Amino acid sequence: MAFLPELKTYSRFTITDPAGRIVAVVGQQYDPVPIGPLHWPVVAPGYKVRQSTPAEAALYGKAKYRDPNLAGGFTRETRYQAIPLRYKSLPGLSAELISDHYTLYKGYIDRINHLQDEYEDAVEDGEKWRAQRISQSLGFLRNAVVLHELYFAGLTQGGAGDIGSVIPADKQAAWKKEFELLGAGSTGWVILAWDPRTKTLFNYTMKEHGEGGVVRACPLLVMDVYEHAYMPQYQLDKQAYINAFMRNIDWDVVRNRLRRIKKTSQ
Ligand SMILES: [Fe+2]
Repeated sequence: MAFLPELKTYSRFTITDPAGRIVAVVGQQYDPVPIGPLHWPVVAPGYKVRQSTPAEAALYGKAKYRDPNLAGGFTRETRYQAIPLRYKSLPGLSAELISDHYTLYKGYIDRINHLQDEYEDAVEDGEKWRAQRISQSLGFLRNAVVLHELYFAGLTQGGAGDIGSVIPADKQAAWKKEFELLGAGSTGWVILAWDPRTKTLFNYTMKEHGEGGVVRACPLLVMDVYEHAYMPQYQLDKQAYINAFMRNIDWDVVRNRLRRIKKTSQ
């Protein structure tokens, strides 16, 4: 066994097996700190390490380091996958707005999958600070992914279902006023949630994906009020966007989420 040679650049390294086949592309990308002995993978006899070519470097994050003795080529693990959209546009929400928003969401999916590989490498290497920092980023990204999925899946053409299946008739006007008010005043997310502790519904906001989450709150209806969610179409008229959102809520989806949560949180 031998260690990687000392390479004093913040780069990617390509590992080849005795037959010259590439078995892994490794390196540091997330955290550009000098590479020291603790970061060097052990390489079996006959395997070689060299600086990656640009084409090989592009494979970083798509290939997970494997024990070269077990090398059979690249493997790409299946991780997060984007949910399909049920619509291309919605009344008041243009195809372009939704398409760009969905593309942004898929970017989060790609990023989380990439970082998950880096996180596992950091844990394997015992790099506590790096693992902690990536873990924080992963939490942020997981929220971004889940919140966007709840948002997209909670809407349908012109709305569906009955709000009364979730919110009692005498509470609907007050709920709507509060939810829209929070939307107007927030910069990230507005969420109608179920609190399994008090067994009640409540609204809360998240300033961004990683800030304002409520432990054990079960999101039922999620409204994105980031600027990217409305400004391309509505510029500063945020209320017009909120009105469009409210018109397209799929209350059947919201009701089913509530039913499932009530069943599992007893
Ligand atoms: Fe968004």
